[in-house]
Amino acid sequence: MAGSELYAVADFCLIPMGTGTTSVGKYIAECQRVLESMKNEGIVYERCHEAVHAMGVERIATDIRLGTRTDKPTNEAWAEGLTENRRKRESVLRRLDGKDAAQAFQSTQNLEPCTEYITPTHPDFSDPAPNTNVAEELRDFSETTLGTYKRPDLVFAYGKGLDLYAEMPTTRNQEKQYRRYLDFTAGIAVNSLGHADPQVARIAGEQAARLVHCSNLYYNEWSGKMVSRLVEMTYAHGGLGERPGSLMAPEGPHLKAFVANSGTEANEAALKFARKAAAVYANGAHRKTGLVCFRNAFHGRSMGALSVTPNPKYQEVFQPLVGNIRVGDLNKIEGLDTLITEDVAGVILEPIQGEGGVLPADVSFLQAVRRRCDEVGAVLIYDEIQCGLFRTGTMWCHSELPLDAHPDIVTMAKPLANGFPIGAVLMRPRVADAIVVGDHGTTFGGGPLVCRIAHYVLGRLAEDALRQNVAARSKQLFERLSLIRDMFGDLVHESGARGRGLLVGLPMKKAAHASEVVALARQRGVLLLSAGSDTLRFVPSLTASRAEVDEAMDVLESCLVVVREGAK
Ligand SMILES: Cc1ncc(COP(=O)(O)O)c(C=O)c1O
Repeated sequence: MAGSELYAVADFCLIPMGTGTTSVGKYIAECQRVLESMKNEGIVYERCHEAVHAMGVERIATDIRLGTRTDKPTNEAWAEGLTENRRKRESVLRRLDGKDAAQAFQSTQNLEPCTEYITPTHPDFSDPAPNTNVAEELRDFSETTLGTYKRPDLVFAYGKGLDLYAEMPTTRNQEKQYRRYLDFTAGIAVNSLGHADPQVARIAGEQAARLVHCSNLYYNEWSGKMVSRLVEMTYAHGGLGERPGSLMAPEGPHLKAFVANSGTEANEAALKFARKAAAVYANGAHRKTGLVCFRNAFHGRSMGALSVTPNPKYQEVFQPLVGNIRVGDLNKIEGLDTLITEDVAGVILEPIQGEGGVLPADVSFLQAVRRRCDEVGAVLIYDEIQCGLFRTGTMWCHSELPLDAHPDIVTMAKPLANGFPIGAVLMRPRVADAIVVGDHGTTFGGGPLVCRIAHYVLGRLAEDALRQNVAARSKQLFERLSLIRDMFGDLVHESGARGRGLLVGLPMKKAAHASEVVALARQRGVLLLSAGSDTLRFVPSLTASRAEVDEAMDVLESCLVVVREGAK
């Protein structure tokens, strides 16, 4: 069927929920009427279910091929979807095939999980034969690289999009072979444009041949351009006290940024800036040095960033840490007055805690923290290293929140240069004005190579098509995870999936099951992350396709079946 015909069908059957149809029963009746006409037109029946779903009846199908009015697929997307569908569908849609809408609705009550991936397809190469390339590479690592990570015996050689390819153990005279993994980790929420993006590669090659580094003692062609784009985009998308759609006034004062090399470094700088600004504005009246953070936060592992990462696992052996730090509970408004006192210089928090378990802060909590920071003159820092730069659907996780929930500083890193090391601290003029020459510095930060890449990546991240994809894939992911919660009530926590955009967590009832599922999924060719003690974390590239989300969810269902069997 041609893409254009399908698009017409899509148009024909998009009936927005809530316009004149008041009950699900009425709605299903309407859907059935549409299904009938679609059948009369010779439309593939399977897609009728999708049409029904697109009209807003929840849980008839696990995905939305048609999208909603704000998410109409292009003809190409339709054609691609159809091909993928034929090739890959293993999820609920297929199980619903051949039933009418009402039956399909009923059948979601007793869904069966996908069992296609029960048998491991990608066993770990534990102990590869000693004369193979993989064994040699692992030996090099273990003999000379400090063992700060526990990793499976996989050596990745290259990637493309969401695919990562690991070396198969081969001997010198054998041809090299690779095994494909579907990467739902994006290098821990880093490669938002996927692996080996051709344009990023081209730009990196060109700039590497032109100028990589000349230190911060001099200006370079790209640092200023990149930061200007970052600032202009923040005005346009909202953030740091600016409403979406704001313009950068020609006269200023403007938001300003400091460019560093990693997330940790960005936070380290932000904490210093907070103390400096507090000292300047206190005018000698108080000695303001206090820093406040929240339980389950992760801000990095250098001494300053570690000091506001209140996890005994990371902190204990490194005591004493930076002084005058207090720890509160995320979303607990009560007690903020005694937590954030007059001697506090800065408060740091993640609007959605990533490593801690994908735990979103409530808007009312953010507003209360903001209010209290204003009362005592403390600088509010949002660490958006994991949740910022469009991962949660908007430029900043706080972009579209009420202005009285906005911070003074936002820190970023991971996706900014799609995997090239970079971090940055963006701040309101009030904080920027307190910083003078010599207060902070870096040898590598803001170099022309990484800034030119980041300049390009920022433009790509802001494209409408990518943002629409994040919205569509997020919806699909949440729908699949909602069905998974229903199918695996014995294993998955009843609270179900949480997070926003493509930063999504699924808490398990038993903590050990999260890491078990990560290992089982890897042995079936899908790379997942855990977060906190008990949560599965899904942070694929923002370019993820419908079929890739389905594949990851199908594998997840099979893994949960394996866990269930093992627990018997
Ligand atoms: C929220 C948050 N802050 C800070 C960091 C530290 O960033 P980096 O590893 O780039 O130093 C991370 C890393 O996972 C993070 O998720």
